[in-house]
Amino acid sequence: MSPTVSNTGFIHRFIPGNDPARKPLLMLHGTGGDESDLLPLGSRLSPGAALLSPRGKVLENGMPRFFHRLAEGVFDEADVKLRAGELAGFIAEARQTYDLAAPIAVGFSNGANIAAALLLMHEGALSGAILLRAMTPLSEPPTTRQAGVPVLVLSGMMDPIVPADNAATLVQALETVGHKVEQQVLPAGHNLSQTDLTLAAEWLTRFGA
Ligand code: MLT
Repeated sequence: MSPTVSNTGFIHRFIPGNDPARKPLLMLHGTGGDESDLLPLGSRLSPGAALLSPRGKVLENGMPRFFHRLAEGVFDEADVKLRAGELAGFIAEARQTYDLAAPIAVGFSNGANIAAALLLMHEGALSGAILLRAMTPLSEPPTTRQAGVPVLVLSGMMDPIVPADNAATLVQALETVGHKVEQQVLPAGHNLSQTDLTLAAEWLTRFGA
């Protein structure tokens, strides 16, 4: 199936689910990825779940991302806010178009960071999130309490991109606004390991249906 473009301008793929008990997954790729990258991961993590997978609209040397950065790990925070708003608009539109419940985000790296921004700023956009190698997207995150959703943060002990204290700051920021966060720090780097997949799939059996 070829990708389509939403009215909100997101190139994306949508794979309908065949297990209505499973919540839809919003798959958010890392820097240089696209809307096809994480579809195999999504069907592996939650077989039968609908999959919605947009391509980030920002290009960095030709590589799609979900927001601009000034350097590695240094974000253009005005753009983070703008792009999180655009992505929330895409989710709302896609929910109507495809008749979907609020999705659980599964984001890797830059995709995890934009999912974190959604969780901090757009209450109700997501029904949960798995953040793989995430860092905090905002230096002064909002503190307004929300209803809160379950969030799994999987960090890498030897991650050269995400310092441990940065991931810890993110967990704290998510908890401050009311999310129910579980964090595991794995003996891994920035790349995903088999343990990530096992833990994410287990978490989805608890919260994904
Ligand atoms: C980001 O820019 O979001 C993070 O540094 C991770 C990355 O995409 O390399």
